[in-house]
Amino acid sequence: MIAERKDDHVRFAAEQQRRLGGGNQFDEVSFVHHALAGIDRADVSLATRFAGIDWPVPLYINAMTGGSERTGAINRDLAIAARETGVPIATGSMSAYFADESVADTFRVMRRENPDGFVMANINANASVEKARRAVDLLRADALQIHLNVVQETVMPEGDRSFSAWAPQIEKIVAAVDVPVIVKEVGFGLSGRTVALLRDLGVSAADVAGRGGTDFARIENDRRRDADYGYLEGWGQSAPACLLDAQGAGIPLLASGGVRHPLDVARALVLGAAAAGVSGGFLRTVLDGGVSALVTRITTWLDHLAALMTALGARTPSELTRCDVLVHGDLRAFCADRGIDTGRPATRSITYDITHETVGGIR
Ligand SMILES: Cc1cc2nc3c(=O)[nH]c(=O)nc-3n(C[C@H](O)[C@H](O)[C@H](O)COP(=O)(O)O)c2cc1C
Repeated sequence: MIAERKDDHVRFAAEQQRRLGGGNQFDEVSFVHHALAGIDRADVSLATRFAGIDWPVPLYINAMTGGSERTGAINRDLAIAARETGVPIATGSMSAYFADESVADTFRVMRRENPDGFVMANINANASVEKARRAVDLLRADALQIHLNVVQETVMPEGDRSFSAWAPQIEKIVAAVDVPVIVKEVGFGLSGRTVALLRDLGVSAADVAGRGGTDFARIENDRRRDADYGYLEGWGQSAPACLLDAQGAGIPLLASGGVRHPLDVARALVLGAAAAGVSGGFLRTVLDGGVSALVTRITTWLDHLAALMTALGARTPSELTRCDVLVHGDLRAFCADRGIDTGRPATRSITYDITHETVGGIR
């Protein structure tokens, strides 16, 4: 049953990627261009640090799959691409392994193919402390992702209907495992209020995983005989909206959901994310073109991201947060309604230059 669901998710997610229109709310974020802000490419480092974690690049392959023969093969390809490019990677939910240990290898392959990389295990928020530990142990995981997916479970025909135990369970897991815990959505976004609660639960970082890319309301609805939940398509907040909503929450943020190209990665970083994650887009690449296509795509993205940072005068991903950024359209309206100041981010490099007399802003 779980194996079948995993195969369905991959099939529907790949179809969705092929049908996706071009636009999403990352388009409502733009940089102010300063023609003399550029620095030397040789001075740019893509390394990023958050919650005591060091990543060589601010880009990762986010949680997707495992639990069936087909998805095990996909995990193998994703893991090889991660190894060849140095990007961190997460497995999909490991509930299939808890239900049937014979599928362990469809997850373990991620560590076998990528022995020295940064690998994250992934569980749901109902998992026991013992399961959380087993997930980390199976992969010798460097971090544990816990996913929050209330809308997906609601539309999923066989999904959970009880969610009140999630917050206390997250707190127990955080206290029991000896790796950082990252809590993520699955494409509907984390509000500022949710991120603040996660901070209070002791979580190391929050991956906002917003709408605009893979839509699990649609995927699960496609799996229903009655297809009754069609009206939930597009539910939730985008990653840019979540990043703005959660700024100052006092916990490191990661961004995923609808990241389409290196400019979206830069947009996520300028809004305060320590790194940006991609799932559906990279899945499609590996299904259509194999490992070599994904390696080429990720290598190109990292090359372009360094080039964009050079033009913007940011030597590190965190220096991007000093760049002037404008928000437009619905995203601007969202900020107005939520009391989020969009004026300061639009002019902050001026203040920065006056006080710090250094590169990175208007010169
Ligand atoms: C085929 C597929 C399976 C997924 N399975 C999981 C999962 O098991 N656990 C999880 O935390 N997120 C899962 N996700 C959600 C992604 O990690 C991510 O949050 C979401 O797809 C938004 O990113 P995207 O727009 O780049 O796809 C899955 C995504 C895809 C495409």
